[in-house]
Amino acid sequence: EKFCVVVPAAGVGKRMLTSCPKQYLTIANHTILEHTVQRLLSHEAIANVVIVLSAQDEYFATTSLANNQAVRTVIGGKERVDSVLAGLKSLDAAQQPWVLVHDAARPCVRHQDISRLIQYCLANDHGGILAMPVRDTMKQSQCGQKIAKTLVRSQMWHALTPQMFKTTELIQAISAALANNITITDESSAMEAFGYSSGLVNASGDNIKITQPEDLQLAEFILNQQKINLSS
Ligand code: CTP
Ligand code: MG
Repeated sequence: EKFCVVVPAAGVGKRMLTSCPKQYLTIANHTILEHTVQRLLSHEAIANVVIVLSAQDEYFATTSLANNQAVRTVIGGKERVDSVLAGLKSLDAAQQPWVLVHDAARPCVRHQDISRLIQYCLANDHGGILAMPVRDTMKQSQCGQKIAKTLVRSQMWHALTPQMFKTTELIQAISAALANNITITDESSAMEAFGYSSGLVNASGDNIKITQPEDLQLAEFILNQQKINLSS
């Protein structure tokens, strides 16, 4: 079975402090978006990707992805969730009963983690997300800087991507969340809000989301390390 991945890439990258949206910054002569999509398409279980672009995008057409037969594009929306929903609605759910969603800004995702996510979802017949246990003790705040309480660390995880769900269920959950004004920052938060179960699949911590200026060098380092480890 082969899967489709929706790649939200319609953000402006405000926290990156560059004029060019971060998915179009380059590492080793390729844009971050190209790194991410090549990483996905070179996985044996992934057949194609739907890249969600901003209506104002002026960079995509100049990338190598514009001529890739395995790539389609759609126009996204104001928030990440709007972009993801636009990508999902462009799918034929009968042909694609499952879908993965993966941030354009995560070029370092490992093939073995994608494989484990897919295996988990098919074996359990419900959705799942790549996630990493938190290392630090987590505090919940009240009124800004005051600590309200300490959370149970063993129950806390970082939510990463890809996240994989049944296509129709994810579309239903996101649509309902938007209709009910529930804030959705990742796919599984929509699924939780409507009672669908999803699992946590332990993933490598090097699957970073390029968010702030220093992350660009970190991602370059990780990509180089991964290349060295693969060839040794
Ligand atoms: N994204 C999107 N549509 C939006 C906002 C974000 O497709 N309206 C995408 C981004 O392009 C990114 C992913 O969602 O690949 C994760 O979002 P984030 O890291 O927050 O990226 P930006 O929103 O671009 O960055 P910032 O929040 O700093 O502005
Ligand atoms: Mg954002």
